[in-house]
Amino acid sequence: KEKLNIGLLGLGTVGSGVPTILQEHQEKISQVTGMEISISKALVRDEEEKRRQAEKFDIQLTTNIDDILNDDDIQIVVELIGKVEPAKTFITKALENGKHIVTANKDLLAQHGSELVALAQKNQCDLYYEASVAGGIPILRTIANSLAADNIQKVLGIVNGTTNYMLTQMVTEKKSYDQALKEAQELGFAESDPTNDVDGIDAAYKMVILSQFAFGMNIHLDQVDTRGIRGLSLDDVEMADQLGYEVKLIGSSENRLGSIAVEVGPMLVAKSHPIASVRNEFNAVFIESSGVGESMYYGPGAGAKPTATSVVSDIITIAKNIRLGTTGHMFNAYQHDTKLADDQDTSGN
Ligand code: HSE
Repeated sequence: KEKLNIGLLGLGTVGSGVPTILQEHQEKISQVTGMEISISKALVRDEEEKRRQAEKFDIQLTTNIDDILNDDDIQIVVELIGKVEPAKTFITKALENGKHIVTANKDLLAQHGSELVALAQKNQCDLYYEASVAGGIPILRTIANSLAADNIQKVLGIVNGTTNYMLTQMVTEKKSYDQALKEAQELGFAESDPTNDVDGIDAAYKMVILSQFAFGMNIHLDQVDTRGIRGLSLDDVEMADQLGYEVKLIGSSENRLGSIAVEVGPMLVAKSHPIASVRNEFNAVFIESSGVGESMYYGPGAGAKPTATSVVSDIITIAKNIRLGTTGHMFNAYQHDTKLADDQDTSGN
């Protein structure tokens, strides 16, 4: 069988899940792609991490990115380092060297998505990032493909697993904010620096990406009205509970009479609403559209295995593209000149 070699950047929570998923489903993946897919090299931070990971993985480890970028046998680079730099530089160079990209990097896609898609197209490379939004839920594919014949009015939901885990643990187990955050970190849900999780910025990145897919609009992060859950106490959560509500960090992107408004913030959700029953690291994306009507997509939004499963699904898509002799990208080709709602335009234009 034809071989497909991967260069993996980062062996953190999601990165270490990728070899596991490839291994566990080896037979099925080989059948659906007609290829033998394997990780030929992985980039680690330093010598110390190299020693530690060498005990766990039977993969050639390197601390030098050029070992991967200049390896002509590597066709796909899977970037799971996170944050904008050095990920952006690595992906740019990989695309310039003709390598296809899979990434879960929402910070990068939300801020430099169009630029990277243009570069991928110029170099006839694939660029896929299903895992960047809502971890294990195949939401980007669903909007780009399954809802392509629909007209979306609203996308709303829980798109950060860490804060949802915290809010759930506070209300159900009476844990403090700090204790709940510590657990979300230990369980591998939080970013390495959880500031973006608790301040709503991680959710804002995801709403930017979802808005691009749903409305064909490139929204700047500054244009998302963003509030997080920092400062929320156990008392606040308990009070809401007694009144029949759950506090949830909700992201929404809505077409209001032709203008798009994007927001992230804590909201009181009536316990009878399906969103209220989304617990722990689970996410849910609720879509209102003219054809389908109301639909909701539910699943784990964070964690090694669900997120790595999405990453590997992108690898499989690229493998199929290679066999078909085509290239593709995840970005929704749909572009629309809808305006941002007046009250959202904080750019001064
Ligand atoms: N820190 C993110 C979350 C990981 O908690 O949702 C998945 O993007």
